Amino acid sequence: MKIAVVEYRKIPPVTTRELIEAIERRGHNSVYLKAHLLDARITSDDVKIYHGSELVEIDAALLRNFGLFLNIDTFLKRLGVLEALASKVPVINNPSATLVTRDKWRCLLRLHLNKLPVPETIVTENPFSAMRFTMEKKAVVYKPIMGSLGLGSTLIKDPDLSFQVTRSLKNLGLPSYYQIYLEKPGYDYRVFVVGENVIGAMKRISNSWKTNIAQGATGVPIKEAEDPEPFKLALRAIKVLGLDYAGVDVAYDAKTSKYYVLEVNAFPHWEGLRKATGVNPPDIIVDYLVSKVKK
Ligand SMILES: Nc1ncnc2c1ncn2[C@@H]1O[C@H](COP(=O)(O)OP(=O)(O)O)[C@@H](O)[C@H]1O
Ligand SMILES: [Mg+2]
Repeated sequence: MKIAVVEYRKIPPVTTRELIEAIERRGHNSVYLKAHLLDARITSDDVKIYHGSELVEIDAALLRNFGLFLNIDTFLKRLGVLEALASKVPVINNPSATLVTRDKWRCLLRLHLNKLPVPETIVTENPFSAMRFTMEKKAVVYKPIMGSLGLGSTLIKDPDLSFQVTRSLKNLGLPSYYQIYLEKPGYDYRVFVVGENVIGAMKRISNSWKTNIAQGATGVPIKEAEDPEPFKLALRAIKVLGLDYAGVDVAYDAKTSKYYVLEVNAFPHWEGLRKATGVNPPDIIVDYLVSKVKK
């Protein structure tokens, strides 16, 4: 089988490289495609994909990141070409599904509309709305709407600070996303799902309120029997979002005694999970994709 891996960087980052290695280890051929070099054409009776020359004899594709900090036209072009590719061969994750998850607001909205528990959240361009939300909730988390790795997320307790943050961002042409601050018991959960199964799950324990592994948290493996709720929520979340695999972040809040989905990552990292649980996601993702092609 010939499996493409789509990225935007010249040199594949470690997660992408590991997917390529897993493809080769399974006895398949890999081809590295750069998102900006992919073009598509609608002909009278077909859709064709080009990466320099016409792309033929590809059985499936693994999509990683197709670009950061793009203008909207380029973003739409890349997404559109990937949708064309997905009309011909299985692509995981499905490009349109990844679009929803890259946007924290739309991801949570979709989950909420499908009856999954998510924290109270606002998206706004109005400094007064930000201020009122902070006054009402007492403690809130500002997050970049397309962020990851915990970078840029800020805990805010002062309504004037959220007013000023939103006003400054508005002047830069950017919106604000705020969420009620959950009282976590010193950890949250990362649940890694592939297809219908949780392949590994861990508590991410930290002294900081941000429990990303990238922010220094420690992963401790958990079993479904001990703590079933994060497993159930993660499986439901990826189904609702139409993803084939994802890293789902779930938090328990002591104030409400409930679990909430914080976000769903369609391009998850896995070093932390592998270290904590011993599972190797790239192998499982590739096996899953191959079984999908054979169906
Ligand atoms: N509303 C919240 N209340 C308390 N902690 C939060 C909240 N949102 C996020 N966090 C903490 O910050 C981390 C990063 O937030 P997340 O929404 O997963 O964004 P990302 O990982 O993309 O930066 C979470 O893993 C969690 O530890
Ligand atoms: Mg996260």
